[in-house]
Amino acid sequence: MSNVTIKIEGIEYRVDERLTILQAARQCGYNIPTLCSWKDGKCSLASCRVCLVAVNGEKRLVPSCAYPVRDGLEISINDPQAIIARRTSVELLLSNHSMDCQSCPKNGQCELLEVARIVGARPDIYEGEKTPTTYDDLAPGLIRDTSKCILCGRCIEACKELQGLGILGFENRGFKTIVGPTANRSFSEVPCIQCGQCINVCPTGALMENSEIDKLDEAFREGKIVFVQTAPAVRAAIGEEFGEKIGTSCTGKMVAALHRLGFYRVFDTNFGADLTIMEEANEWIHRIATRATSPMITSCSPGWVNYIEYYYKELLPHLSSCKSPHEMVGAIIKSYYAEKHGLDRSKICVVSIMPCTAKKYEKERPENSVDGIKDVDVVLTTRELAKIIRRAGITWKKLPNEEFDHDLIGEYTGAGVIFGVSGGVMEAAVRTAYHILTGKELEPVEFTPVRGLKGIKEASLLINGNTYNLAVASGMRNAKKILDEIKKGNSKYDFVEIMGCPGGCINGGGQPFVKELFLPNEDDDILETYLSKRAQVLYDKDKFKTVRRSHLNKDVIRLYEDYLQEPGSPIAHKLLHTKYNNKREKYPNIHEEGMYGEK
Ligand code: SF4
Ligand code: SF4
Ligand code: SF4
Ligand code: FES
Repeated sequence: MSNVTIKIEGIEYRVDERLTILQAARQCGYNIPTLCSWKDGKCSLASCRVCLVAVNGEKRLVPSCAYPVRDGLEISINDPQAIIARRTSVELLLSNHSMDCQSCPKNGQCELLEVARIVGARPDIYEGEKTPTTYDDLAPGLIRDTSKCILCGRCIEACKELQGLGILGFENRGFKTIVGPTANRSFSEVPCIQCGQCINVCPTGALMENSEIDKLDEAFREGKIVFVQTAPAVRAAIGEEFGEKIGTSCTGKMVAALHRLGFYRVFDTNFGADLTIMEEANEWIHRIATRATSPMITSCSPGWVNYIEYYYKELLPHLSSCKSPHEMVGAIIKSYYAEKHGLDRSKICVVSIMPCTAKKYEKERPENSVDGIKDVDVVLTTRELAKIIRRAGITWKKLPNEEFDHDLIGEYTGAGVIFGVSGGVMEAAVRTAYHILTGKELEPVEFTPVRGLKGIKEASLLINGNTYNLAVASGMRNAKKILDEIKKGNSKYDFVEIMGCPGGCINGGGQPFVKELFLPNEDDDILETYLSKRAQVLYDKDKFKTVRRSHLNKDVIRLYEDYLQEPGSPIAHKLLHTKYNNKREKYPNIHEEGMYGEK
């Protein structure tokens, strides 16, 4: 690597020769607006033209996100022509935009509006016909509203880069161009895993979660007994919606807000995570003992479950039959808890606050119900939780710290908390599996080889003289490598954890938008750092819990003694286990019909 000398507004700087003008300018303290550039100040599409600057030796203005620096380059951001050009680019985008900001779900967090303000865009400068609109809300996880799409292409890249999928692409040409699934189909008609990673990068309200706030309101209106539970990753990020720094733990305030929103009981999905570990660790040990299909793969991430159902049907027997933790909590509330308290289960509504859009889909699966009654009725994302807190007039800063309700299923362990980060399920399972197989506790309790944000992590575990090979993958691009090995029959693993979103649930498709990812900032490793900070919240919670092993959760122990008998019992199977489908039957020509590019 060598440096070159450039000038910005006549001032000399030495910068790495591999940078784009945008990257170099950011390092030198300049703030060039962008829309299509994604993550690191580079852009392969350069479609929005919002980042135009003037440079010496070029007759035309150049997009700073795609133009490399070179020795002697003189750049002007403040050039009069560049100022007008950037404003015109945004005004043209606005001219083909719905501009119904008042009712737009992105209002308050819209990058287009922010950039329009920065460049001084004027409304209604270019009037005329607008591209015909598609509004798709048929998939439970996410909606697409092309009237708000600025054709930046970020979602296309996120789906491809992070998930190795090609669900989204450009359709049509010229004025009729739109972005969406092939042939402008609904997300419900293509093999989209509903992970929401595309939502997290969309600068506008063109992609959003399929909101269920109306369903929640209806449950209260109908006089239902409304329970709420929150996934571990929500507490690690909800504060960001209210101006807290990334990495602030907000469990107490979040619980206090939920109490003020009128829920009958506020429970922690961590209890369900402990229960999942009891069932899953036992299932793994049973598989080893009976030489059943191996490696077993975890099943608590619904985006991942969708992926295997669509793309690796032949590997379905590897999937653990355990429901995900929030489904388990829902099933237990509507059975054990309802019976103990004499509640009519048909009057119960279970609301899950999740970092994930695929959970909205998961709760609709007929397999996730008991005797025709769904385990979970409403799933709200972390972002939707922030919306209902604001709507209720609750001042976040003034909230006290409160505790989850301790009523039959209120206890949770450190093992349950770390479910929210990639490697957490494996670590929790190892703590309990070791105990079941040896009668002793794993020491130290932390199983660090599966920690960290690498896409694929490997570890081995020695139990009773046998070595077990473990793997952890997050993001489908990474998972694919492990699955291909299993498919070829040359996998060395005994147990695999897979999470749909890169980094795990802390980076789910329903988590607060991280604007720092797209806007100029001084943190070059923002993707890595914001995830590490959120992960640290959960690891700290685990560290400071007195009980850190799922098999020592007193409420879980009592639940088995009083009701479920033992892990894997017939009643545990009825309530806590599920089945999977071969979705390839629905899409026989999956590559040709459902995807852009390679899988
Ligand atoms: S995406 Fe932004 S500019 Fe467009 S309607 Fe929504 S808030 Fe307004
Ligand atoms: S939800 Fe996930 S799989 Fe579907 S289009 Fe978005 S990124 Fe791709
Ligand atoms: S849907 Fe969003 S991310 Fe995708 S091209 Fe449109 S504006 Fe960009
Ligand atoms: S063209 Fe550079 S950010 Fe869009």
